[in-house]
Amino acid sequence: MGLTCVVNPSWKTMLSLLLSAMLAVQATAAMELYVPEQPVVALHGRDVTLNCSFSHADPLNLSDVNVFWQLTDTKRSVHGYSKGRDQLADQVERFANRTSLFPAQLGLGNASLLLSRVVVADEGSYTCFVMVKDYGSAALQLQVAAPYSKPVVTLYPESNLRPGDEVALTCVAYGGYPVGDVVWQDGSGRNLTDNITTSLVANEQGLFTMTSLLTVTLEPNSTYSCRLINPLLGEEGFAFVTITGQNIAFPPVALWVTVGLSVCLLVLLIALAAVCRRKIKESCEEARREAEEAKELEEDESKTALTALRS
Ligand SMILES: *[C@@H]1O[C@H](CO)[C@@H](O)[C@H](O)[C@H]1NC(C)=O
Ligand SMILES: *[C@@H]1O[C@H](CO)[C@@H](O)[C@H](O)[C@H]1NC(C)=O
Ligand SMILES: *[C@@H]1O[C@H](CO)[C@@H](O)[C@H](O)[C@H]1NC(C)=O
Ligand SMILES: *[C@@H]1O[C@H](CO)[C@@H](O)[C@H](O)[C@H]1NC(C)=O
Repeated sequence: MGLTCVVNPSWKTMLSLLLSAMLAVQATAAMELYVPEQPVVALHGRDVTLNCSFSHADPLNLSDVNVFWQLTDTKRSVHGYSKGRDQLADQVERFANRTSLFPAQLGLGNASLLLSRVVVADEGSYTCFVMVKDYGSAALQLQVAAPYSKPVVTLYPESNLRPGDEVALTCVAYGGYPVGDVVWQDGSGRNLTDNITTSLVANEQGLFTMTSLLTVTLEPNSTYSCRLINPLLGEEGFAFVTITGQNIAFPPVALWVTVGLSVCLLVLLIALAAVCRRKIKESCEEARREAEEAKELEEDESKTALTALRS
C-alpha cells in the first residue's frame, strides 16, 4: 500500500487500530460533525481557527477521544490527538509548531484546530476526523488572502510628450493574494479594455506583484485611473494619473508651422499695403489728370462758345 511508505510505525499501528475500529463500528450510526460550509478566509501571517465540532451524548473522557486533522487531497497529517495527548510524529513538516487543538474545548465536543501564521501554501481542503465510540469526518476549505498595497500609476515616457504619441501607463501593486481584478478607466469612467497587459510575479511567500500595462494614444487633459480589487477581501485600491498641458511639450513642428505662417502673413500684408498705396496714388493721379482734362475741355468749349459768339 502506498500509504504505508509515508507513515512511521506508531502512526501505522494507530491507523490500523483506527481502521479496525471503523470496521467494528460500521453498524452503528456515524457521528455528526459540523464544519463551516463556506470556505474559511484567513489573512496571510495571521492565525485562523478551523472549526470542527461533534455531537456526543455522554460526558467525554479525553483519553477516549481521537482527533485527526488531515490534508484532504494527500491524507497527510496536519495534527493528531489520541490517548489524551497530541500525536505529531508524522505531522507534515511545514505545520510544525503551528497547530494546536483547544484541550479545554475538546471534552465539550469541540475539535477545532488553531493554525498559526497562515501562509499562502496553507490554502486547500482540510478534513477533520473524530472518533470516540462512533466516528465521523468532514472537510472544509481554507482560502488565504492578503491585501494589495495601494496601486501606483506611472507614465512612460514622462516628458516631451506630444498629442498623438503612444504612452505606456503602468499600474503596480504588490504583496497581495489572490490574483486581483484590474480595471482601467478614463476620466469619464469609461472602461478601457484595449491594449492592457497584466502580469503576475509571486515572491517566495506566494504573494503577488501585479503589473498592468495600458497603452494609449495621448490626448491633452486626460485622466487614466487604475482600480485593483481583491476578490476575497472585496478591497479596492485606486490610483490615477492626469495628463495636462504641462506634461505635453509644445510640439516643434507646430511651432515652425506657426512661425512660418505668421511670416508669410506679414509679408503678404506688407505687399498688399504697398500695392494699395500705389493703386491709391495712381487713382489719385488719374483723377487729377481727368480733372485737368475736363478743365481743358471746358476751356475749349468756352473758347468755342466765344468763337461762336464772335462769329
Ligand atoms: C518547533 O519548536 C521547537 C521547540 O521550540 C524547535 O526546536 C523546532 O526547531 C521548531 N520547529 C520548527 C519547524 O520551527
Ligand atoms: C470551539 O472552540 C473554538 C476556540 O475556543 C471556538 O472559537 C469555537 O467557537 C468553538 N466551537 C463551538 C461549536 O463551540
Ligand atoms: C468596467 O469593467 C468592470 C470589470 O470588468 C465592470 O464591473 C464594470 O461594470 C465595467 N463598467 C463599464 C461602464 O463598462
Ligand atoms: C494597441 O497598440 C498597438 C501599438 O502598440 C496599436 O497598433 C493598436 O492599434 C492598439 N490597439 C487598440 C485596440 O487600441
